Amino acid sequence: MRDIEERIKKLLVEMTAEEKIGQLIQCGPSLVGAFEVSFEELLDMMFDGRISQEEFGKLMSTATQDFHEDDIRAGKIGSFNGIKNAETANRLQKIAVEESRLGIPLLFGYDVIHGYRTIFPIPLAESCAWDPVLWEKTARIAAIEATAAGVHMTFAPMVDVAKDARWGRVSEGAGEDAYLTSVFGTAKVKGFQDDDLSREDSMAACIKHFAGYGAAEAGRDYNRVDMSMQRLFEEYMPPFEACVKAGARAVMPAFNDINGIPCSVSRWLLTDILRNRLGFDGMTVSDSNAIAECVDHGIAKDRSEAAKLAIEAGMDMDMSSNVYAENLPALLERGVISEADLDRAVTDIMRIKFELGLFDHPYQTSCEREKETLLRPEYRACAREAAAKSMVLLKNEGVLPLKKEIRIGIAGELADQRAEMTGAWAIGANGDDCVSIIDACNASNINYVYTPGIENGVVNKKEIERLSKNCDVWIAAVGEKKDQSGEAASRADIGLPKEQEDLLEALLQTGIPVAAVLFNGRPLAIPWAAKHVPAILEAWHPGVEAGNAVLDILFGDVNPSAKLTTTFPYTTGQCPMYYAHINTGRPGGKGKFTSKYLDTPLSPVFPFGYGLSYTSFEYSNLSIRQEEDMLHILVDVKNTGKAAGEEIVQCYTGQKTGRRVRPVKQLRSFEKIALDPGETKKVSFDIDVKNLGYYDWNMNYTVDRGAMEIFVGTSSVEGLKADIVLK
Ligand code: BGC
Repeated sequence: MRDIEERIKKLLVEMTAEEKIGQLIQCGPSLVGAFEVSFEELLDMMFDGRISQEEFGKLMSTATQDFHEDDIRAGKIGSFNGIKNAETANRLQKIAVEESRLGIPLLFGYDVIHGYRTIFPIPLAESCAWDPVLWEKTARIAAIEATAAGVHMTFAPMVDVAKDARWGRVSEGAGEDAYLTSVFGTAKVKGFQDDDLSREDSMAACIKHFAGYGAAEAGRDYNRVDMSMQRLFEEYMPPFEACVKAGARAVMPAFNDINGIPCSVSRWLLTDILRNRLGFDGMTVSDSNAIAECVDHGIAKDRSEAAKLAIEAGMDMDMSSNVYAENLPALLERGVISEADLDRAVTDIMRIKFELGLFDHPYQTSCEREKETLLRPEYRACAREAAAKSMVLLKNEGVLPLKKEIRIGIAGELADQRAEMTGAWAIGANGDDCVSIIDACNASNINYVYTPGIENGVVNKKEIERLSKNCDVWIAAVGEKKDQSGEAASRADIGLPKEQEDLLEALLQTGIPVAAVLFNGRPLAIPWAAKHVPAILEAWHPGVEAGNAVLDILFGDVNPSAKLTTTFPYTTGQCPMYYAHINTGRPGGKGKFTSKYLDTPLSPVFPFGYGLSYTSFEYSNLSIRQEEDMLHILVDVKNTGKAAGEEIVQCYTGQKTGRRVRPVKQLRSFEKIALDPGETKKVSFDIDVKNLGYYDWNMNYTVDRGAMEIFVGTSSVEGLKADIVLK
């Protein structure tokens, strides 16, 4: 470490101001030729639906791209976003290392969110596996693939706690709970970075979006965040803190403002909190164009002021907005910003380049390595395992598992759309790699008939009736397309579209049992389906092995074990809806003047932590003992059904009174256990009382010693509870 700091100091002495500023610049390749549009604009076009992801891929591969080679040579670029093959990465790196004056290597960043080429389930789905070993493993594979393609840093994991299902980016994180997101983020950081960042298959993790982005008002992307400090630090900060502790080397500040100051220019957030309080010593990189957007926020009068505010706040690297390149030279010359701020930013970035080993091994991959690494069979096998472990059985009235010889009818276009299976933010993906339900049926010789079921927005009842003669069960693939969640994909109505409900209704009318398979990137409000459809499997956007994993569950080759990490409300109007709410002075109930809605039930359709299995579990003998500051909690869990299965045992606490109102329940720990039929296991949780605190009115962290409820269960609502008094 000391060696690195020495090397950085020596380098700084040699660098001109222009070269220093160059290191702070991250850009993407621009596209030239027939269509003169920048990489960022093209990305925008994909996200706002002007072009599809496939078209984006084609354009990127066929377009003439301008990689700003002269600027690299002149030392004006420190990093790229969007380089996605070894050949280009090495070519550009060669220019930086051999043709620029100081030979400082480039840093290649990329959004490797849930796999690079082998696409795993979207993070929200994977979080439902409650399985840190799996979370780490899929991140490791993503890192092996991405680094083989030349990537050094991933803009992941996203550890934004998200309680509002309207927000499209709930798909990119681990759901609504701060503790679960902390465990998830820690596993991802470990998986991406492994234990030695300088190894060629390790990549730096850039945690995002710091902070509070998941609380965008009304679930509308990029919207303001206005909340108490207590809430920010209790409910939104813990995952960032956990990931910094786990050694995450980069942080991306969020687009939003917090209480009026955009994160990109918040010195309080980027220096006082991130550096001084959390002890972060890596680099910060802005979100795309975010520094420039401080002008639109109305916090900087022009781009020059935005640059000044950002660098002074502690923003090291400017992603895509070019405001640093345009303005820092003059700001420095006029003495408006200090050389010390510039040196700090350069030092932070150099530190990561050194740690990645880029100065010693600038070419970390080769075309051969890339070719033999992507989409290996064992990675696909892991993607299948991850997908099956992520699928939540929401309802099952005797329909599932299916018998092998059954004839199935499949309805819904999502059953036959490979590329939709990747979900949001899978930009390294090739949709054709994906196995759809139809592909999986063909490969396993399943006896099936298929209809999209809906034509021009209308259900084709005749076709459904005709096909019903040849099947014993209907599988309906419904939900969302991949572009309906993710960035800039907030929805004001999270229900199933009318035609999909019509389809389900038409299938039910055939009198044949129906199982709905939901493909979606956020919780959906499905009260009608939950009431009428006898079996529902939440498959999310499951990745490359989608169809195989769905069949694994439907046919019972894998017993479902996943549990929701996000609440499913009745209706969009209940959003944000989450289990760890407070009671209010008038807890919701039958009485008129209680906290509730007139037109919707108080409880969710499916609560946090909920998920069924093909077997059943029984909880007994909950016991709690406090020894000094440790709570030792024991419970017996028995498999009372006929199939072997896995159960996710969840441990919550609920503080009865406090100096500030407390959530009714908070997840504190969990354990996934495998049980054979009839088998009982003792599950233990050791909880440090010091971690049960909260922030009082004056922002002092306090741990109260008083009445507390301990709740251990199969979900956030079903389980055993015991009252204790904390000593
Ligand atoms: C997103 C980030 C992402 C970045 C770079 C932005 O639009 O908010 O999450 O990492 O683009 O592609």
